[in-house]
Amino acid sequence: MAPICGVQFLVLLYAMALVFQAALASDPSPVQDFCIAEKNSPVFINGLACKDPTLATAADFFFAGLDVPGNTMNRVGSNVTLVNAAVLPGLNTLGVSIARIDYAPYGLNPPHTHPRATELLTVLEGTLYVGFVTSNPENRLFVKTLRRGDVYVFPAGLVHFQFNVGNVDAVAIAALSSQNPGVVTVANAVFGTRPPVAEDVLTKAFGVDKGVIDELRAQFNQVGS
Ligand SMILES: *[C@@H]1O[C@H](CO)[C@@H](O)[C@H](O)[C@H]1NC(C)=O
Repeated sequence: MAPICGVQFLVLLYAMALVFQAALASDPSPVQDFCIAEKNSPVFINGLACKDPTLATAADFFFAGLDVPGNTMNRVGSNVTLVNAAVLPGLNTLGVSIARIDYAPYGLNPPHTHPRATELLTVLEGTLYVGFVTSNPENRLFVKTLRRGDVYVFPAGLVHFQFNVGNVDAVAIAALSSQNPGVVTVANAVFGTRPPVAEDVLTKAFGVDKGVIDELRAQFNQVGS
């Protein structure tokens, strides 16, 4: 191979700069007007493959149903209806998504993180006690009680929660800075994994004995080793 010339070197530098830029951003910026997700594409890329743009219709940019409450009859008493690029194909490559969150009286959206998104929460009905925790070593907790019309931001990647502190249903809308924010619920990621995390790992991590770990695992119908 011939030694690289000045121009090739500059191109290489530029390509490297692009790579680093992409690593700093959240979802990458689109390089066309839109890229409607092609659900049945056999191609795996960062995001979803585009359907032929000449075949785009208004329906590709549309989702109906956020007026419908999710069913909160579950252990925690909350339900998230997420509208991401998987259900609204026109969102693909655009770096945003939206969710409706319903809370039964005293319902909880348990501590969780979105690995790829900042979240902007707007309360439509009810009273929510919300909070988030900063990263190690400070682990500072920021909490606030929100009422109808209040907005709160949960910075990308940080553990956060919302708790309905009223004896009536609550509803919120969350705007998220990714077409596919992802969710890691803290308790599920530790006590509800398939297969289970080894018991020695959990007893040591939490400084408790086996019985406590078994009780926590049982919340997720998990019988550990
Ligand atoms: C959320 O609500 C939907 C619609 O009622 C329901 O299908 C789903 O099972 C609910 N999810 C949970 C976790 O309760």
